[in-house]
Amino acid sequence: MARINENYLKLPGSYLFSEVGKRRRAYIEAHPDAEVISLGIGDVTLPLTPSAVAALHRGADEMGRAETFRGYGPEQGYMFLREAVAGTDFAARGIGVEPDEIFISDGAKSDTGNIGDIFDAANKVAVCDPVYPVYVDTNAMAGRAGNYDSATGRWDRLIYIPGTEANGFVPGAPDLYGESAPDMIYLCFPNNPTGTVADRAGLKAWVDYALRIGAVLLFDAAYEAYITDPDIPHSIYEIPGADECAIEFRSFSKNAGFTGLRCSYTVVPKKLKVGGVSLNSLWNRRHSTKFNGTPYIVQLAAASVYSPEGREQTAALVGAYLENAGIIRRGLEEAGYKVWGGINSPYVWLKTADGMSSWDFFDYLLTELNIVGTPGSGFGPAGEGYFRLTGFGSRENTLRAVERIRNGRI
Ligand code: MLT
Repeated sequence: MARINENYLKLPGSYLFSEVGKRRRAYIEAHPDAEVISLGIGDVTLPLTPSAVAALHRGADEMGRAETFRGYGPEQGYMFLREAVAGTDFAARGIGVEPDEIFISDGAKSDTGNIGDIFDAANKVAVCDPVYPVYVDTNAMAGRAGNYDSATGRWDRLIYIPGTEANGFVPGAPDLYGESAPDMIYLCFPNNPTGTVADRAGLKAWVDYALRIGAVLLFDAAYEAYITDPDIPHSIYEIPGADECAIEFRSFSKNAGFTGLRCSYTVVPKKLKVGGVSLNSLWNRRHSTKFNGTPYIVQLAAASVYSPEGREQTAALVGAYLENAGIIRRGLEEAGYKVWGGINSPYVWLKTADGMSSWDFFDYLLTELNIVGTPGSGFGPAGEGYFRLTGFGSRENTLRAVERIRNGRI
């Protein structure tokens, strides 16, 4: 008789963004005239750049001619894209990443979720709290999180490293060694959801900690394009020793607007070994077995991001979202809110008004101001009492939302 993976039964409710979407749809159905502004999920709103669109057309034309048609591509991605990534995202910053350490994929969400495949189910996992829920839920599915306690909002086998006002929502390495030390540590900078960034010293402390305890850092850099401060590292590999303890995830979603097109990459350095086994070889085996490659035309579009005009056009997209984040940040501050992020990140993290719970504040914004955001508690127990807004809306909607918040009415 077939048996299911019972870990799925332990998952609470639905995935955070599905729940936010469900409540938004229910409100709109009940109030069809309401002009609801969505600043919840971090989905882009500006169209693809002209250079990406031209690349898609070129790729489609090639696929329609017998002499240029392509079937299965290399699962790890075409060399033209892996070389562009190695040269522009890494070599240009003085970081040595080889094309065969880069695995092209269909999203950082997929890869941060799937990376657990190459790790033992008994590994102890540490996450920052609040945290992008994919890291937690996928480890729960794999049986690494233990059991969920709805009273505390915590999984009993996960190690939570709280981000708080006291540490500026940039948690440092915990004081855990020996038996209690984590084996896998998820980090995300610029951070989703808090929009905060870790500086060089902060990242070095994490790398030193991981090397000392033999843990692997799973570093999500999906938002690195939003870093404006020249002193903030864009890659974990800017830190010496990181190539022996860290895997890095990047995405074309938030810089080039590929949320609907799907392309990302994961760097697994060849020097990174666990128990003498190369994680690059393991991930290569996993990736080529379970994945048949990102579509050729999508990879062409991703490569166009690295052309001179592509870089300029992509920078303009990022600049527009950063400006939105700045508008939200300043508007909230003027309205008396305490805020974080929104400077090196498209996300603005705020303390709810009048000590409201995150979901009460969600309801208040939705019903009173017709604005959808994301409740901080959905990102983990330390997010309770906080809330996330995104700069990914249109400029018009961003301005309208800020006006509503300032006035306290629609
Ligand atoms: C978010 O809103 O946190 C992101 O859009 C989710 C994602 O990138 O999967």
